[in-house]
Amino acid sequence: MTTVSSTDYDGPLLSVRNVVQEYVSQGPGGVKAGVVHAVSDVSFDLAVGQTLGIVGETGSGKSTLARATIQVEKPKSGEVWFKGQNLVGMSKRELKRARRDIQMVYQDPFGSLNPRWRVEDVVAEPLIGHTTMGAVERRARVRELLELVGLSPDIYLRRRPLELSGGQAQRVAIARAIATNPALVVCDEAISSLDVLIQAQIMNLFEKLRAELGLSYVFIAHDLATVKQLSDQVAVMHLGQLAEVGPAELVYGSPRHPYTSALLGSIPGLDPVTGIARRPVTLKGEPPSPLHPPSGCRFRTRCPRAQEKCAVEEPKLVDFGAGHKAACHFPLDAVPTVSVDALRATMPEPALASSAVASRNRA
Ligand SMILES: Nc1ncnc2c1ncn2[C@@H]1O[C@H](COP(=O)(O)OP(=O)(O)OP(=O)(O)O)[C@@H](O)[C@H]1O
Ligand code: SF4
Ligand SMILES: [Mg+2]
Repeated sequence: MTTVSSTDYDGPLLSVRNVVQEYVSQGPGGVKAGVVHAVSDVSFDLAVGQTLGIVGETGSGKSTLARATIQVEKPKSGEVWFKGQNLVGMSKRELKRARRDIQMVYQDPFGSLNPRWRVEDVVAEPLIGHTTMGAVERRARVRELLELVGLSPDIYLRRRPLELSGGQAQRVAIARAIATNPALVVCDEAISSLDVLIQAQIMNLFEKLRAELGLSYVFIAHDLATVKQLSDQVAVMHLGQLAEVGPAELVYGSPRHPYTSALLGSIPGLDPVTGIARRPVTLKGEPPSPLHPPSGCRFRTRCPRAQEKCAVEEPKLVDFGAGHKAACHFPLDAVPTVSVDALRATMPEPALASSAVASRNRA
């Protein structure tokens, strides 16, 4: 394995190269029913201090890509370079060391916190596993972390997860994730299960932590409205592949892939160019099965621009400049770009854009 010291490395923080993940699907009686093409040849880079938003419909491979990136599951093939070191192929011990620097925040905060533990133990655990801190120093660090995420230590230290609201539990999960001062936090639908009012608060917390701690994020969500607040770069996934990727202002302002355009069209709001209210567009038909993806372009069965070539030739990502890439034989024309702030102003807050609101979460 080729490695360089992380201290003399000045390339991207994270560089995912040609990652493939496939699962064998079993039918009745354990008979092999086929191969699920969950992630197919995905590559992207993430610079220090930046946020990459990854969006796509359910089943498009976002969580699989996240798991392969942080090596919870080894990818079938491909490389994941973090601070110049390839995580794929690392020994367990090397991975444990690297994990101190890469943390994950999941959709269901209650699912990621041991219900029997008190908040102080939940947040202290990674400090025990990854640092040499003594008990006194650790207790002080836990208090500091709770304050950072906006929870009063005096009130919350002794509580157990089930004595917390959804928003409070997610704050504890975030405190735990940042305990070891990671460089990268991967958030998989981290606000999707929260009450509408709490979503915006947690987004603001992520933003504050990025500014104060210099964190980088991979921020996964179903829709483009949810990731708009944080993302410098956006990647749009469709059926295990990247349909489009690039700087947020270009992906939002001048989408080249018809799928991205449809996702943007599904967000209620004002057209950023005309200023006229946009009529939400709904994609017709179900996404095809990842067991049998269509030949050629995997979006062709739902694409209004599809032509013969789309059925026979798989489109590759083409760079339109400034790192803005789309995989389409007949891409949309560039439109005059609007500043990303102007675009953000035309979209609803993530809370209003999200359809997934968990009723269990109390403020
Ligand atoms: N362990 C597994 N075994 C078999 N198939 C799997 C496994 N994990 C994921 N898949 C399949 O891989 C595909 C991608 O799943 P994944 O969970 O990554 O999608 P997702 O984009 O995160 O979806 P969602 O938005 O619903 O969370 C799906 O078709 C899923 O059923
Ligand atoms: S390659 Fe063809 S089917 Fe695929 S998105 Fe482009 S136009 Fe549509
Ligand atoms: Mg998922």
